[in-house]
Parts: sequence; structure tokens; C-alpha cells
Amino acid sequence: MYIHISEIGDKVGKKVLLRGWVHRKRGSGKIIFIVLRDHSGIVQVSLKKESLSDKKWEIAEGIAVESSISVEGEVTEDKRAPTGYEILASEIHLVSNSEPYPITEYQSTELLLDKRHLWLRSAKMTKIMKVRSAVFRHTRHFLDSNGFFEITPPLITGAAGESGADMFTVDYFGKDAYLTESSQLYSEAMIYSLEKVYSFAPSFRAEKSRTVKHLAEYWHLEPEMAYYDLNMTMELIENLISGIISSLLKEDAELAEQAGADKKVLLHIKPPFKRITYEKAIDTLNGKGKSLSWGDDFGVEEEKLLTENEKAPIFVTHWPKEIKPFYMPINPEDDRTVLCADLQAPAGHGEIVGGSERIWRYADATKRFKEVEKAKGIKFNMENYSWYLDLLRYGSVPHAGFGMGMERVIKWLLNLDHIRDAIPFPRMINRISP
Ligand code: 4AD
Ligand code: MG
Repeated sequence: MYIHISEIGDKVGKKVLLRGWVHRKRGSGKIIFIVLRDHSGIVQVSLKKESLSDKKWEIAEGIAVESSISVEGEVTEDKRAPTGYEILASEIHLVSNSEPYPITEYQSTELLLDKRHLWLRSAKMTKIMKVRSAVFRHTRHFLDSNGFFEITPPLITGAAGESGADMFTVDYFGKDAYLTESSQLYSEAMIYSLEKVYSFAPSFRAEKSRTVKHLAEYWHLEPEMAYYDLNMTMELIENLISGIISSLLKEDAELAEQAGADKKVLLHIKPPFKRITYEKAIDTLNGKGKSLSWGDDFGVEEEKLLTENEKAPIFVTHWPKEIKPFYMPINPEDDRTVLCADLQAPAGHGEIVGGSERIWRYADATKRFKEVEKAKGIKFNMENYSWYLDLLRYGSVPHAGFGMGMERVIKWLLNLDHIRDAIPFPRMINRISP
């Protein structure tokens, strides 16, 4: 029976069967050393000419880096070996030989992106992809155990779900359709039967932003909750994020640290997160030398300045209505702002969550659509939104929700320089292959 490399510690002095890929190879003449890799780790395998048949020795000599092989051998403890163990091979089987591997030790970022399908085998990407899988699992687990139902939205849509400015157009049987930029409106539709729901799906943004935090296709978690207000929503967001972190530290701490997480910092991320209003944030930024006016949005520079000394994420609440979408309700205490909150990750990693209460009275919604049209000089095609407005006509309830960008969260947790490494096959303005 095959075992994984991570399990050999219990098998010292015993024979084991392993399979994987040739990570490195050296030696010749009478002894060959292979570093074998499987998903769980690496181990040195030594192959001695005297212990193998001539045919097997010939195979061992011909094996190239990245070939897939299986070996049988005895586990020995060896302090000099990279992982403390060594396999003394008695059998080797070549599953499939590798052609000369195109990735060698020092390679440009561009080459590694061109060869992404192969670079995903690197130790760095393997660890990040495992953390990604864990973060997705903990996210679902948190919501599933807090009364949420997972729903599946359509990804091809007939209209904008957000600003509409950055959508990819697709030919839908001769008509224009779009790749969804947000599944929120569909999440909203489902609260009227399921009350607390989340969609977990890709969103597409044709933003021409060449930054370290923008992807053209990213994984978007979009929970929507009947009867929630802004405060309840912020509490849910901070509990979700600290819940994901505590599960990660409980189940995958070593892996997360190897992938770049700073455990000491993450251990202190506990609710409540700091909350400041947009107005206060503008004052803070202007105090740091910016000259922002009311209504200005934040760019990379502002996000960095605002969060440079933070250890945990901070909420920036009550933004000007002009820079937020049509579905956010006006703040009854200050009609210049809407009832919303963005969550900014520490150290300039950027906005990881955007959330708000939703307009839930039909009359308020139709009024707000008109205001936005006037303010932005645009015209909504109301036919596209009639189904959405129906939700407010047939037994509407107060509700709220948010969207969390999974790759932004992973970038922050693992201190990655670029968001592209948080996803296996990044889609960016200048890249769609592999
Ligand atoms: O702030 P956004 O645009 O909000 C919405 O789409 C709402 N409809 C969400 C909702 O309330 N259901 O996007 C939400 C989050 C951002 O905070 C950010 O984390 C992420 O999605 N995001 C991106 N991530 C990677 N690449 C991009 N181009 C992103 N644009 C947004
Ligand atoms: Mg946003």
C-alpha cells in the first residue's frame, strides 16, 4: 500500500511504498540520490547499484527531474538528509519520464507565469494552494454552522449588479450579455425563502487596473441576510474573518506559517475590529499630508496610509452616496452618506470586504435609481431591474449583505506581494494563458 512522505516518521526500519515526482537528482557510478516529492513533502531516496537489478539501475540512471516514479525501500533515520529520513530503495518503477524541465532555479516572473501550469508544482505554490483550500473550507464551515444556506447564482447576466462600468460582454445567442461582476442581486432574491444565504462564485471585473490587488476573475463570497442591519453585518464580518483565522491556526498553523503567515500577528486578530467613518478617515489621511475632499474615493496610496500601522483590519463606514451603488440606503442621520462599511486589511493589502444595508422599500428604491441617474448622468434600463424591484413589491424585509474577495484575504493572510499568487491561474489585464 502506498503511503505519503509525511507518514514515514512512524515507519523507521520498515519497508514502504512511495510515489511521486523527482524533485532533484544527483550522483552516478555506484549511487544515485533522488529527492522525491509528493503533496505532503519531500524525502531523499538513495539507490545503490549493488541493491538493484541491472535493468532497474539503468532506469535510475536515466530518470530526469520531474519524472513520475514509485519506489519501495526501507526508511532510515539520517540526520544529514534534508528531512531527517532517507529511503534505501530496493525497487524503483518509472511511471512516466519527464522531458528536460523548462523551469530551472532562477527564472523571471514572466517565465514562471507563462509556465504557471508547471510552476504550480513548486514548494511555494503548493503551500499557498493548500492554504487557499483551507481558507475556502473554513469560510464555508463558518457560514454553514451559522445558519446559512449556500446558493448558486448564474454567472452570465443580462444587467449590471454593481457599477456596470467594468463588465465583460459575451455574445448570448446574438444578444449582449455580461459575465457577472457580483452575484449580490441573486443572493438577495434568495433571502425570501432561505433568509440567510451565501453565494461563493467567481466575479468578473474588466477593470483596466494594473495593480497588485486586481484580478479580472476572482472568487467572491457574497452572504445576504434577512433582518440584518449594518451593525449586525459588521459583527458577522469580523466573526467570519477571525473564525477563518482561528480555524487556520488550529488546523494548519505550520503550513500557514511556511506559506508566509505571521502567526504572532494573526493570533491577535479578534473582534471587535476598529470602526471609523469615511469622514474621520479623510481627516486622518489629510493629517498625514493628503489633500482629499469629501467624495473622493481611496486609491492604493490612501489605503496604504490609512492602514500602515494597523495589525487587524479596520472598518471604514458611512461613505458618500455619490461613490456607492444604487442599492445602498441613505443614512437617516446624515443624508450625504449611505449605510455601508468597507473592511480594509492591514499594511495596505487593501479592501477585503464591502458591505451595506440594502434599500428594501420599493418607493425608496425607485427614488434612489432616479437620483443616481441624475447624479451620474446615466440612464438605467429599468426593464433589467424589474425582477429585482419585484422583490421589494412582494413582502420585502430589511436586509443586508457583503462581498469578500477571497484572493485579497489570502494575499493579506500570507503577506503575498501580488494577488496573482493567491489563485492558481490568474486572469489579469495582460494575461489569459495558461
Ligand atoms: O466592493 P465590491 O465591488 O462590492 C460588490 O461587488 C458588492 N456587490 C458585494 C456585496 O455586497 N455582495 O466587491 C467586493 C469585494 C471587494 O471588497 C474586494 O475584496 C473584492 O470584492 N474585489 C476584488 N478582488 C480581486 N480583484 C478585483 N478586481 C476585485 N474587485 C473587488
Ligand atoms: Mg468596494
